[in-house]
Amino acid sequence: MDMKQKLEALHEEARKKIMESGNLDKLNEVRVAYLGKKGELTAILKSMKDVAPEDRPKVGQLVNETRSRIEGLLENHKKALADAKREAQLKAEVIDVTLPAKKARIGHRHPNTIALEEVERIFVGMGYEVVEGPEVEYQDYNFTKLNIPEDHPARDEQDTFFINKEICLRSQTSPVQARTMEQGKLPIRMIAPGRVFRSDEVDATHSPSFHQIEGLVIDKNITFADLKGTLEEFAKELFGPETKTKFRPHHFPFTEPSAEVDVSCFKCGGKGCRFCKGSGWIEILGCGMVHPNVLRMCGIDPEEYTGFAFGVGLERIALLKYEIDDMRLLYENDIRFLNQF
Ligand code: DAH
Repeated sequence: MDMKQKLEALHEEARKKIMESGNLDKLNEVRVAYLGKKGELTAILKSMKDVAPEDRPKVGQLVNETRSRIEGLLENHKKALADAKREAQLKAEVIDVTLPAKKARIGHRHPNTIALEEVERIFVGMGYEVVEGPEVEYQDYNFTKLNIPEDHPARDEQDTFFINKEICLRSQTSPVQARTMEQGKLPIRMIAPGRVFRSDEVDATHSPSFHQIEGLVIDKNITFADLKGTLEEFAKELFGPETKTKFRPHHFPFTEPSAEVDVSCFKCGGKGCRFCKGSGWIEILGCGMVHPNVLRMCGIDPEEYTGFAFGVGLERIALLKYEIDDMRLLYENDIRFLNQF
């Protein structure tokens, strides 16, 4: 077999192996086998010394031609492999641009939060400060400084979670009154929203943890008229300008006199409906003039200063405003319910 045939056969063999290479590694193996230092074509080049000197240029040219033909085949096949790979990738990652886009679901405020922000907006508008107090509280603040002495039945009335003899989970936001007064900065105009705890069974109107908003005003010459005017204004802002307010005498240990406040039913306008249980009125809060004992215990001279206080249940406001008939809905975090607000 002369050299030309030999190179032709080698080229053909290499071509087959190249075409059979299914990936770049295989292809590289073929390159090394034919063009590498110990490759077949290199071996032929090395055997040139056996070729007659006059034939060498001719044979050299043939070898070089074969080499570049094989290189060309390698190059083409490499490109074909890369193209095929890209093609497969594009097919696998195909995006249907006609599909409707997925909407980013943005959360929103909980009905409790909406109601709280509404109450805060109203009082801040009247010049009140928003303050906070601890949820784990000394019994001293939760009871004693609010004129509820030890052994007073009111301590049992608000079924309290006790941590030890001195500490409990606050059963009301009223202790923030005492904490604020003790700081000694007068006059005071504050509301204190926050979580409170009572060992109540869960039902449509009770939960062991709920929220209150406490209010406190202390200044010279504050009278019951200021209390009435303030809460009437609050009710109108919250439930609409037609809202009427009714003060019913009541008892709280930390206020004297004390009252509970009803608002005219905003659903039926006072005629009586299912919502107000036929009475035309809905109870919304407790209030009164701060008891002189409380002022004294908190370092304020009741001869010089007077004040009023009130306590609103936040959930109650949210339930009324949004006409929700079961308090448990506020805590279950069912997205189908929460999405409605
Ligand atoms: N702390 C009372 C409660 O939890 C609510 C209350 C009533 C607060 C009268 C007050 C008030 O500040 O003056 O039932």
